[in-house]
Amino acid sequence: MSADHSARAPLALDSLWMPFTANRAFKRAPRVLVSASDMHYRDDAGNEVLDATAGLWCVNAGHCRPQIVQAIQQAAATLDYAPGFSMSHPAQFELAERLAALAPGNLDRVFFTNSGSESVDTALKIVIAYHSARGDHARRRFIGRVRGYHGVGFGGISVGGIENNRRVFAHHLLPHTNAHLPATHGLAENLFSRGQPSHGAHLADALGEMVDTYGGESIAAVIVEPLAGSAGVLVPPVGYLERLRSLCDEHGILLVFDEVITGFGRLGAAFGAQRFAVTPDLMTIAKGMTNGAVPMGAVLVRRDVHDAVVNSVDGGIEFFHGYTYSGHPLACAAALATLDVYVSEGLFERARSLAPYWENAVHSLCTEPNVIDVRNLGLVAGIELSPRAGKVGARGADIMADCFAHGLLVRVTGDTIALSPPLIVNESQIDQMVDGVRAALRRVT
Ligand SMILES: Cc1ncc(COP(=O)(O)O)c(C=O)c1O
Repeated sequence: MSADHSARAPLALDSLWMPFTANRAFKRAPRVLVSASDMHYRDDAGNEVLDATAGLWCVNAGHCRPQIVQAIQQAAATLDYAPGFSMSHPAQFELAERLAALAPGNLDRVFFTNSGSESVDTALKIVIAYHSARGDHARRRFIGRVRGYHGVGFGGISVGGIENNRRVFAHHLLPHTNAHLPATHGLAENLFSRGQPSHGAHLADALGEMVDTYGGESIAAVIVEPLAGSAGVLVPPVGYLERLRSLCDEHGILLVFDEVITGFGRLGAAFGAQRFAVTPDLMTIAKGMTNGAVPMGAVLVRRDVHDAVVNSVDGGIEFFHGYTYSGHPLACAAALATLDVYVSEGLFERARSLAPYWENAVHSLCTEPNVIDVRNLGLVAGIELSPRAGKVGARGADIMADCFAHGLLVRVTGDTIALSPPLIVNESQIDQMVDGVRAALRRVT
């Protein structure tokens, strides 16, 4: 029988080593969620908590949606597991086809993974397999971006640009990954931008300089998040992604968009690629794919990139890569039901139509104490605070704890509050979120 955590009961905290958590601080003041529905969590003290972060940027359709719950239950009772190597089950094909139809351009080949990190490492391998299949063995270099987040695999932290995630592993990163484009953030002209900032397209020209330094023929791929989420909501300047695309085209470099956060309606379109009208060659996805209900990710691949790899071998396995749980039946069921909910409730369109209200609401915080920038796009906002002297991140952590104590879940990275509510949010809940953050900013000095 499973334990009943719905009432406050003393939990034994010691055994669990928590991910991306200040473990000792957490265990002094634990925050424990026991149930969820639509826009709210409930904690183990029975408090309702308004979710301004869609869990971890993943519960785009809101929590415990019956259609998704039932689909998972039914799958678990029908086909609990099916091997994915030289074997399959119908839902995998159906889901791949649905995703291909949703994807931009001809990114209509789909490789399943179980997380964003796995999607990124898989995409990097596909890039190498593609160049290798074409005999282009010199293309080994990956270009990432400062402040980029691509998960926690060795591939992901190598191309990623968040120093804290790399420091301890600095001598163990992938070779040919030491070049990163500059972050698209920090230009004084762009402070308090509404939507895409107008300055900064030129930052993409750093790729041109790397081509000069390393030789364009040595660069395998560039990987960026269309909008960087985890590093504190960095919205791409107008024209920046377009310029990256054209430089990649000019030099035969593949462009990978990491859409783990920006996928599934977050920016008011199926993917960031459509929102920005820039089509990459590969796209990594996860999170909103199953509404966070079952772990799942995928890489969407341009058809001819897939074909080059798959047609390169005359019989036998073409790509020595895959996971025991790739295309797991429960995950496929969750994803198919999630896509149905997105369509039947028009949630991507909803995100787009709520975006102006959202923008006005979050920008009303710009004069609050310690706020040094506010930025937004779609249903995402970043509220950047001035750090306390010598204690980067302390103010942000206090704001997060204060909001939670007052029934509001926000996410902070360093001293930036990141808001990304489920796309079912309504205007009065947006007001509640923004007023909650405002009150916390006034309480926490
Ligand atoms: C852009 C991006 N890529 C990759 C990941 C890693 O995903 P996961 O935590 O599912 O491995 C994340 C997670 O936040 C992300 O935002």
